[in-house]
Amino acid sequence: MNPPSQLGFLVRPGGRLQGLLRTPGDKSISHRAIMLGSLATGITRVSGFLEGADALATLDAFRAMGVEIEGPQAGRVTIHGVGLHGLLPPVHALNLGNSGTSIRLLSGLLAGQTFDSTLMGDRSLSTRPMRRVTDPLRQMGARIDTNAQGTAPLHIHTGAQLRGIDYALPVASAQVKSALLLAGLYAMGETCITEPAATRDHTERMLEGFGYAVQRDAGRVCLRGGGDLKACEIEVPADISSAAFFLVGASIAPGSDLTLEHVGINPTRDGVLHILRAMGADIELLNRRFAGGEPVADLRVRSAPLKGIRIPEALVPLAIDEFPAIFVAAACAEGETVLTGAQELRVKESDRIQVMADGLQALGADARPTPDGLRIRGGPLGGGRVDSHGDHRIAMAFAMAALRAAADIRIDDCRNVDTSFPGFADLAARAGLNISTRDTA
Ligand code: S3P
Repeated sequence: MNPPSQLGFLVRPGGRLQGLLRTPGDKSISHRAIMLGSLATGITRVSGFLEGADALATLDAFRAMGVEIEGPQAGRVTIHGVGLHGLLPPVHALNLGNSGTSIRLLSGLLAGQTFDSTLMGDRSLSTRPMRRVTDPLRQMGARIDTNAQGTAPLHIHTGAQLRGIDYALPVASAQVKSALLLAGLYAMGETCITEPAATRDHTERMLEGFGYAVQRDAGRVCLRGGGDLKACEIEVPADISSAAFFLVGASIAPGSDLTLEHVGINPTRDGVLHILRAMGADIELLNRRFAGGEPVADLRVRSAPLKGIRIPEALVPLAIDEFPAIFVAAACAEGETVLTGAQELRVKESDRIQVMADGLQALGADARPTPDGLRIRGGPLGGGRVDSHGDHRIAMAFAMAALRAAADIRIDDCRNVDTSFPGFADLAARAGLNISTRDTA
């Protein structure tokens, strides 16, 4: 298993963020590009691919199933698709590291194959709930074993022909929706999924980009098995989830003026823009355009006084990965910010409600966790030591908190920042954050 990493961040207080920068490629889209490109017929060329550990885990899994993939090199990947029925049995278990998206989407995709496979991951991934995908996949006819707690490793057995289902998701989860759509490619008849709230729709958009018919109505998506995917070109926009740290950093650090280029602003991902603007943030969307079927824009953010708000629950799934950053904004805002309806945060790479509350309290902030959210009253931040619990987004959020802290912030266990944002510390330093990496051994 993996012990806490010995990579830490030391962030000196103060500074401001300025300039023009591009955050790395979107993680969700990068995973899906490898998956659908591998299952397509023909050659798919991807640019802007995220060369972070999570997306690379997906890439390695498809190489292990016989797909020839060139790159990544400077974000370019060339995938020689093998068609929906061309994957080969992997010799070993597929190790997906820290990546929830890889394991959940692959569980659906592999349920439709004619070979057995095993999916495993690191200590954090091995504690995350998998029944949310294995239960509906079993209803489709899949044979999948988990351990007694319903967690990885997952053993997927060659089974009977999958059949489509009409499934109402009990939790708003794009990973579950996507796993079922991928299984649906191999199922007899139609697979339909109804969502309790809108979640990211990159799978649906990309399937359409690969020429696969998908029916979409409000809150419902259906497809029929037995079609095929045709290779295409995919331009991956910069990840709004990575941009979010800079949106918050520049908002809270007086004198900041930063432009983030080519950021994906898909309406199922832009909750952070709505939340920060409701708090008073000054964010302009410039040069709006489309790239690879996804809306993108350059985001200009200037510092502004923030105020606390009650976050509308409808925005929770649309900002689900951005709450660590949003909590830091709330700690620097005037008044109270209240989040409810966000119990999903407790089953991310860490328990993001508890870990953020602990870290904010360590810096002297007034942060009170509730079962499904957090109440934060803004005020001055001191310095201190924060444990990220190996969660990339917690580490980056607290790095930005230093812009408004009174003393140094030391953040432990930061190696997993590489899962979504390789080069974070360098890019943040270039923008004006006083950050250095250190060995905490
Ligand atoms: C993702 C969906 C979300 C998100 C994760 C990426 C995806 O997870 O938190 O980082 O790419 O589909 P859930 O589906 O569990 O909400």
